[in-house]
Amino acid sequence: MASSIDPHSYTNSSHPFTTHISLSLFFDFPSTTIHSSALLTLSSPHTGILSLDTRSLSITSIVDPKTQSPIQFSLSSEIDPIKGALLTVSLFNQSQLLISFKTSPNSSALQWLSPPQTFNKTLPFVYTQCQAIHARSIFPCQDTPAARIKYSAKINIPRLLAAVMSARHVERHAPVAGEAAMACDDSMWCAEDRVVEEFVMEQPIPPYLFAFAVGEISHREVGPRTRVYAETVPAILDAAAIEFAGTEDMIRQGEKLFGPYDWERFDLLVLPPSFPYGGMENPRMVFLTPTVIKGDSSGAQVVAHELAHSWTGNLITNKNNEHFWLNEGFTTYAERRIVEVVQGEERAALNIGIGWKGLNDEMERFKDNMEFTKLKTQQEGVDPDDVYSQVPYEKGFQFLWRIERQIGRPAFDEFVKKYITTFKFQSIDTETFLDFLKTNVPGIEKAIDLELWTEGTGIPPDAMEPVSTIYTKIVSLAHEFKNGRMPREDEVADWGGQEWELYLENLPKAIEASQISALNERYQLAESKDHEVKVAFLQLAISCGCRDYYGEVEKTLKEVGRMKYLRPLYTYLVQGPGKEEEKILAKRVFAEARDCYHPIAQGVVEAILSKHS
Ligand code: BES
Ligand code: ZN
Repeated sequence: MASSIDPHSYTNSSHPFTTHISLSLFFDFPSTTIHSSALLTLSSPHTGILSLDTRSLSITSIVDPKTQSPIQFSLSSEIDPIKGALLTVSLFNQSQLLISFKTSPNSSALQWLSPPQTFNKTLPFVYTQCQAIHARSIFPCQDTPAARIKYSAKINIPRLLAAVMSARHVERHAPVAGEAAMACDDSMWCAEDRVVEEFVMEQPIPPYLFAFAVGEISHREVGPRTRVYAETVPAILDAAAIEFAGTEDMIRQGEKLFGPYDWERFDLLVLPPSFPYGGMENPRMVFLTPTVIKGDSSGAQVVAHELAHSWTGNLITNKNNEHFWLNEGFTTYAERRIVEVVQGEERAALNIGIGWKGLNDEMERFKDNMEFTKLKTQQEGVDPDDVYSQVPYEKGFQFLWRIERQIGRPAFDEFVKKYITTFKFQSIDTETFLDFLKTNVPGIEKAIDLELWTEGTGIPPDAMEPVSTIYTKIVSLAHEFKNGRMPREDEVADWGGQEWELYLENLPKAIEASQISALNERYQLAESKDHEVKVAFLQLAISCGCRDYYGEVEKTLKEVGRMKYLRPLYTYLVQGPGKEEEKILAKRVFAEARDCYHPIAQGVVEAILSKHS
């Protein structure tokens, strides 16, 4: 009987899990494909069918690596729009299989940038984004976080390029015959202009943490276990090195709060502007959008978040995406504890306030789909990219903060440390967390309605807005805007990007276009170099029907591919009545910008436009 442990995967829990994958990857930039082979090792010999996830892969052959004899397989012709194509393999008392296959140019995890799309414009670039369910578009696997894998990889690339991975770099060497392991012919693998970069990942990770980037990449040292990597552009590397100089300090704070840092290195990779997220917690090497480099150390907050995942998310992982709050809620809590130490309580409170506003806004977004205001959600037939929201982050944060208030910080810190040591390198669900909580904090269920928090919709009554002087001041200034009062220069003199962001997000949604223009004349928000500020302003401008800034909206949509900006800008353009002109604009801009977006972002924008067409 097929028993599913993950609504987003074909993995059958009665089959043995893959414990190790050995990859040979030949990067073919002209055709934007990877000629690949994957040697899968199972936890035990298996007889019968083994189900694997794939998406847009073409499978060439599968053999037993010991005997080279073929293994029967079938790739389903029925393609599930969310899960992809099921690959079934028939095994007979076998624990290893060698699959040779090719990725497709539209692999959903990969963005291939042609030379003109890079900074230096001379060489191509490619990078991955596998969370939540895109690893299967790079190699066949049990693509569920319940199945943790170790891996090794031989990456064959043009000699002018370099490869990085979220794994330990072993060496860069000239290609050797036989290494291709059926990825391609030896003649192709060993061609003159090629080089092999070798990596190993010795700690078991969920497949969504698999990551690489290939391009013209260099680095700067910023700490004893940290380098920043980016495309070889001295200005970017230098700015990144300055922005992230405080990283080691944050790692130490993290270790104090959550226990030893278990991943050895903590490197940072700054990606091209099309990177679809602010940051991605790939182990040993976090991936970052270049928009976090603003020259004011505010990028440190995103680094604090991705660093915090080293404990919550990467050590303890959600069993499947229905329990995503265990990753993001815990990490948001942990991020703010680090921020509190390195940037102070006021800064942490401001972050909580921005999150509080974000959480309340999501209640409006999901008012017809309250399921996604729950912490634990039902995701059968749901694409995780479509329901990505602040809820797991901010409601998850609020839940943990509520427990902290109940038992006091010292006891809560103790609890978190024990939670991490107990479940590290495991993938767990909400019930496991709740059982652990009830065992270790006896009587907690009498003080806090745990079921309401984890299974209920909306924001529980015992959630809390932060108390802080700056936060309260900013929110009340924003409310005064209704009466036509704009903040004075002396009131905003020491505002940074986050203060402006909080202010703009709290402004009433229906203000006169003339007031928007007046605000911008005084404070030049539409032209802000800080995308958080700029996008918050543009969003407001669109929702107030102020068309003066559509040029700036278009420019922004073409410059960056971070979904945090694309989502609200496209949504505000097309949502609501009487938006004919805006819809035409949105469609035209998307048609022109589409090729510059990561495939995940392309899908998300398409979903927004089709919902409102
Ligand atoms: N793991 C997430 C990014 C993600 C989530 C990718 C779901 C794919 C699917 C990452 O840790 C994250 O939360 N990034 C935030 C950073 C912010 C909260 C500081 C982002 O990208 O905005
Ligand atoms: Zn996160």
